[in-house]
Amino acid sequence: MIRINEDYLKLKASYLFSDIAGRIKAFQQAHPDRTIIRLGIGDVTRALPPVCVAAFHQAVDEMSRDATFRGYGPEQGYEFLRQAIAAEDFQRRGADIQADEIFVSDGSKCDTGNFQELFARDARIAIPDPVYPVYLDTNVMAGRSGAFVDGRYEGIVYLEGSRENGFVADPPDLPADLVYLCFPNNPTGATIDRQRLAAWVDWARDQKALILFDAAYEAFIRDDSLPRSIFEIPGAREVAVEFRSFSKTAGFTGTRCAYTVVPKDCKAYTAAGEKVPVHRLWSRRQSTKFNGVSYPVQRAAAAVYTPEGRQQAKALVDGYLANADMIRDAMQALGFTCFGGRHSPYIWVECRRPSWEFFDLLLDRAGVVCTPGAGFGRCGEGYARISAFNSKENVQAAMTRIREALEET
Ligand code: MLT
Repeated sequence: MIRINEDYLKLKASYLFSDIAGRIKAFQQAHPDRTIIRLGIGDVTRALPPVCVAAFHQAVDEMSRDATFRGYGPEQGYEFLRQAIAAEDFQRRGADIQADEIFVSDGSKCDTGNFQELFARDARIAIPDPVYPVYLDTNVMAGRSGAFVDGRYEGIVYLEGSRENGFVADPPDLPADLVYLCFPNNPTGATIDRQRLAAWVDWARDQKALILFDAAYEAFIRDDSLPRSIFEIPGAREVAVEFRSFSKTAGFTGTRCAYTVVPKDCKAYTAAGEKVPVHRLWSRRQSTKFNGVSYPVQRAAAAVYTPEGRQQAKALVDGYLANADMIRDAMQALGFTCFGGRHSPYIWVECRRPSWEFFDLLLDRAGVVCTPGAGFGRCGEGYARISAFNSKENVQAAMTRIREALEET
């Protein structure tokens, strides 16, 4: 008799964004004449930067000739991309990261979800609330939690975000071994300053803990005093791993390219207390379970680091940031308190009613999709996340529809 991993039974029936997609589909089937504007899942809508498209085409042409064809690439990514990442995203900003500490992948969702595999089943996990659900669900699948009771998994240390702490939690009093941080934050749009991030690094060093730092939205930071990487903080190389993605930075959600930075100084421990480099474990894991990202995709990603690539990618992000301003202003004008949306594509709206009720109201009355804050955890109840990833015209239309719908209620 083949038995299942019963930890899966602790999970909610479906992943948050699949659940929402199902509700939208049902709504669309019931109302085929209604047009829906999607400001829910953070999926980009604007075309790839032209310089990436040109590099993509050229690489496909190379694949069409025997002389330049490439088969399996290096699992960790091609040297041309890893060198560009290390030099441009880190060294140029004063962070000491080398090309051989970069692992190119097909997405930060998989990397943030898979990384926990390297650690003991009884590792104590600290997770923000509200949170991007992947960090939590993958640890539940791996057996690191108890049952789901009153909106919380037993055995998980929750780092509560609230309007009082600006949705930036400080290190916990309870012991924890592995902590997930995401800044600019998904879902709240909060940013962290150097001082508070340094407090986390100090805490991790003190606890011999590891920080998994998700920086998928760093390209939205427009204030140079804010850290874009945890490796800008002294001492972080020993206690942090960072996840980055081309998805939101350069429109790659459908193209798939991301990377994870694992410094060679970063250590975890055996039960006997012996230090083991995390780099060695991730390298072993990736070379066993992953065969790399396709060559044309890596060429397209490397084009982001050319002068035109930088400019074109920045223009994409600027467009989404302008949408974020528009959403924030419109929701505030309707009397809602808003957070985020400044160095982030996400606006976190205090919706003055239960989150799912607000979701249904916006969908039914305005044909606009948002993401209910409660889907990100208990502390998200009473909030909704509105995403700036859409065209300017659609965002304008959505705000008009929301205003009209709320005036009617
Ligand atoms: C989100 O909407 O939170 C993101 O698009 C999810 C993701 O990047 O996987």
